[in-house]
Amino acid sequence: MSTATEAPRSVDFQGLQIEYDDRVLTPRPWTAAQSVWAAELIGVAPPGPVLELCSGAGHIGLLAVTLAPRRLVCVDADPVACGYLRRNAGRAGIRVDVREGPMDQVLTSDERFAVVIADPPWVPTDDVTRFPEDPVTAINGGADGLDLVRGCLDVIDRHLILAGSALVQVGPDGQADRLAELVAGHDDLTVIEVREFERGALVQIDRLAG
Ligand SMILES: C[S@@+](CC[C@H](N)C(=O)[O-])C[C@H]1O[C@@H](n2cnc3c(N)ncnc32)[C@H](O)[C@@H]1O
Repeated sequence: MSTATEAPRSVDFQGLQIEYDDRVLTPRPWTAAQSVWAAELIGVAPPGPVLELCSGAGHIGLLAVTLAPRRLVCVDADPVACGYLRRNAGRAGIRVDVREGPMDQVLTSDERFAVVIADPPWVPTDDVTRFPEDPVTAINGGADGLDLVRGCLDVIDRHLILAGSALVQVGPDGQADRLAELVAGHDDLTVIEVREFERGALVQIDRLAG
């Protein structure tokens, strides 16, 4: 495991104290919009737990289930991020089932979720150097930026229940349209709504009943 070059920092994320260091992505304030929207989806979703993919220090999922309480399972490949997630959840008094490892390896085939929140790396590899402050593994989305987005979509297809919703974060500059094209290749998944923000976009994908 790498060593932090600075002491841990803490930010207020809509009332949650989130600790992190320079080995994980700094919580971005605009991503609270993903938590709030996810909480709205949780409020109307069928029974079942919430899955957060690429959770990092955990603030997006933790805020969502603070607003709309449900059992939360979080997945991240980075042990440092998972350590902060456990600490941040403990400080918030929220029980979280943390799965440390690649998203396609840490869920069992029979697990199902009512809502999936996903915040995969989405920066194209050639652009990663534009963000020297960010850990490469947290932002590098491969040649077209969508390698991990495709991975999340595969997990969503395997684990989202009927009438469940997924809320996926992608980058600006047309990535939401490219995700919609990918969703079109999955028979019973449908893009319901896209919300564009200055620094990214959120895409709601449902598994429609009937
Ligand atoms: C864009 S960051 C998001 C972190 C957090 N949600 C945030 O807002 O700061 C992407 C996260 O995905 C994780 N990640 C990268 N590849 C992964 C994989 N194959 N499976 C699970 N997590 C992965 C990284 O460790 C990183 O924490």
